Amino acid sequence: MDPRFPRAKSSTTRPPTLIDSLTDALARRETKSARRRLTVLPQTAVDFSSNDFLSLSTSAAYRDRYLAHLNHAPASYPFASGGSRLLDGNSVYAEELEKFVAAFHGAPTALLFNSGFDANVGVLSSIPQPGDLILYDELIHASAHEGMRLSRAGSRKMFAHSSPSSLRDVLASQIAADMGVKDGTRNVFIVVESIYSMDGDVAPIKAFVKAVDELLPCGNGYFIVDEAHATGVVGPRGAGVVQELGIQDRMFIRVHTFGKALASHGAMVLCGSETRDYLINYARSLIYTTALGFPFLASIRASYELLSSGDTEPLQRRLQQLIQHLRRQLDGLQAGPSTFFEVDHFPTSPIFSLRTSLPRQLAGFCQQHGFVVRAIMPPTIPDGKERVRVCLHAGNTTEDIDGLVRMIQLWLNRHRATRVANL
Ligand SMILES: Cc1ncc(COP(=O)(O)O)c(C=O)c1O
Repeated sequence: MDPRFPRAKSSTTRPPTLIDSLTDALARRETKSARRRLTVLPQTAVDFSSNDFLSLSTSAAYRDRYLAHLNHAPASYPFASGGSRLLDGNSVYAEELEKFVAAFHGAPTALLFNSGFDANVGVLSSIPQPGDLILYDELIHASAHEGMRLSRAGSRKMFAHSSPSSLRDVLASQIAADMGVKDGTRNVFIVVESIYSMDGDVAPIKAFVKAVDELLPCGNGYFIVDEAHATGVVGPRGAGVVQELGIQDRMFIRVHTFGKALASHGAMVLCGSETRDYLINYARSLIYTTALGFPFLASIRASYELLSSGDTEPLQRRLQQLIQHLRRQLDGLQAGPSTFFEVDHFPTSPIFSLRTSLPRQLAGFCQQHGFVVRAIMPPTIPDGKERVRVCLHAGNTTEDIDGLVRMIQLWLNRHRATRVANL
């Protein structure tokens, strides 16, 4: 220590302040290369990251329709929400929108939430009753975890990702431990996503249904399926995986979110009318928040009109062509040992994982060369599963894709050279 500047006495003895604790937590994340930062990337960069899968957010068809809805509203129509849905935040427009979305998805009713996060929290925190059991996929979204944490359910058990046999094993052990599960006294909720946000894989929902129906013949197995990443992208006119499989009547709840392919914001819970009524009474993330205002409702309406008229089907097809193109290009990479770089991809999914132990470096390299891709680090994904996530959009071009793959190859070559030089 410099004797001219003795440390103030209090600084050596004082207990850590709150700010010290927060700074320490951030430093721990930094050490693990897991510190999150807000970034703004140049507008000229090619988007291989956002969840705007259909590129609707920049499409003229969507903008025109959205602006028409705004312009056709009577001058006296409030653009602000006015309050919570139960007070002044409700409107004929909101109720018609819910009916429109429910009809499109072949559901009895729909209930609007301000976000997918709020929808999952509202459903899972309020619906499972004391003593009920929740079984959830190990990769379920953080919002479902928040909802389960607040839930009064008696217990929750995890099963291995997208594994019907693991679901079977976990459910069988619960049945063995508690007769109420088998005889239908306890409700069992099975919580899955239809397409997983980070791995992009499609859940084997039919196999899950088969397992649950065999093990719970009393009919007390209730499916809650989050279709956030399937909405607009998969199924008839983008209606989702469940409707593609034709099993909508077997699902207790479906959650469709609008902040991804639908270029908007908010989410709807599709369910029966009693469940909808229950949520209006008990889902705190619906009750104690200001409802979405008219501009958001109009944007949701605009995107659902595009879906239901079939106008987005060419975008769905284009996206599939681009997926196959990127897949072929990635298959042709000279990547070296799979321990260093590996592509994880579920056929037909717009989400690709480039698995490497140096995801930040690869993402940074691509970003410097004008391609927006993101490193995904724990705790967003499990330890050891860090990757660069690449998302395709209907508005990407094959030239964009070829450019990105060239950059990945260049980065791999440089790394191979550095590794050889260090041997
Ligand atoms: C699977 C899944 N569910 C729910 C959400 C939350 O949706 P929202 O962004 O509308 O809050 C997300 C978004 O990240 C998601 O990926």
